[in-house]
Amino acid sequence: MTTLAPLAYSPYDYAIHEDPYPTYARLRAEAPVFYNEELDFFAFSRHADVLAAFRDVDRYSNAYGVSLDPAAYGPDAHRAMSFLAMDPPRHTRMRSIVGKSFTPRRVAAMEARIRELAVAHLDAALEAATFDFIGDFAGRLPMDVISDLVGVPPSDRSEVRRLADLLVHREEGMNDIPQEGLEAALTLAGYYAEMVGDRRRHRRDDLTASLLEAEIEGDRLSDDEVISFLFLLVVAGNETTTKLLGNAWYWGWRHPEQLAKPMGDPARVPDWVEETLRYDTSTQMILRVTRQPVTVQGVDIDAGRRILLLIGSANRDAAVFPDPEAYDLDRNTQNLISFGGGRHFCMGAALARLEARVALTEALVRIKAYDVDEAGLQRVHSINVRGLAALPTTVTPR
Ligand code: HEM
Repeated sequence: MTTLAPLAYSPYDYAIHEDPYPTYARLRAEAPVFYNEELDFFAFSRHADVLAAFRDVDRYSNAYGVSLDPAAYGPDAHRAMSFLAMDPPRHTRMRSIVGKSFTPRRVAAMEARIRELAVAHLDAALEAATFDFIGDFAGRLPMDVISDLVGVPPSDRSEVRRLADLLVHREEGMNDIPQEGLEAALTLAGYYAEMVGDRRRHRRDDLTASLLEAEIEGDRLSDDEVISFLFLLVVAGNETTTKLLGNAWYWGWRHPEQLAKPMGDPARVPDWVEETLRYDTSTQMILRVTRQPVTVQGVDIDAGRRILLLIGSANRDAAVFPDPEAYDLDRNTQNLISFGGGRHFCMGAALARLEARVALTEALVRIKAYDVDEAGLQRVHSINVRGLAALPTTVTPR
């Protein structure tokens, strides 16, 4: 008889970065409300509990941010994370004003531009039969798209991307944002401040200019509010989408019988994207702080306690997804929880999906097959972003 090790879970653990899913399965079965004493948080791992917390802004607060990292956690979190780190009514006000500019129509109108950017990066990468899917493609496109959206000129884009990468990277054993990351944050904030100043002086047709003009009943965003939203876009929309693309590429390669579906019929690419979002999502967890005492799965939790909502685990809950450990492009993914739920539902979900569909479709129409060099894979070590930092790929062009 084998005895199981005692159940332990920390999002800083490198073994968890490597593969969190066996631990998630044990958490759901043995301790759906798990308490980590050292880091002082509770973790919810079942779909129903994660979804209920997402929908309940009265009991679960975003006001301390959505990350356990000490430097990102606390009452000032909104400075870098804007309305993601606010509760109603402040959240409602800002999200509504931003929503006037960051509209579904603006996102849909970006399709042709996203295709252009994707094709440019792909064609350059495909000139060599072997390239790094992340470094040469997936790591570039989302930042270019956001930069295009907000109005960062092409000449500044690689520097903005470098700063954004520094923000999310963690060295092993480090439970906080490193000094380099903090410095990158300041440089980036200064860059955006200049950009906002420029839009005050000159009219331009980009999201930044539109945000400065947006108003609801005479209420507008201040410069600082626009800057912190631009910051949020980089943190929320860049790394997450890169990792979604990389995870799709990797899991497609690991499951050739599934990859054959979009390879044979590009109309199946959306299924590839959705199943990847469910199976191995780039945002593994989101933090909340209880505003009132709650009882979940029989566990009493006081007000003011930290809760990790384990999205990656909820997406593998057999109560919602039959045979959850199977990567299956034919399954119903409607209840995936990768973009959250309720009032903080991801504002960029449509953009992320559009980017992923366009990027992967353009890749598949150019190649017949691809192979991954497993020995060259590198995983990103970030507390809540799951995905690859390097994904060496060899392609056979069509
Ligand atoms: C695969 C890609 C993405 C994933 C997995 C993802 C995931 C999430 C999740 C889980 C939340 C909810 C946070 C919470 O409840 O506290 C969120 C919020 C948000 N996301 Fe995304 N996201 C992605 C891409 C994007 C993109 C491309 C953008 C923008 C360009 C974006 C912008 C935002 C914003 C602004 C919020 C805050 C919404 C609010 O607090 O009201 N995201 N995202």
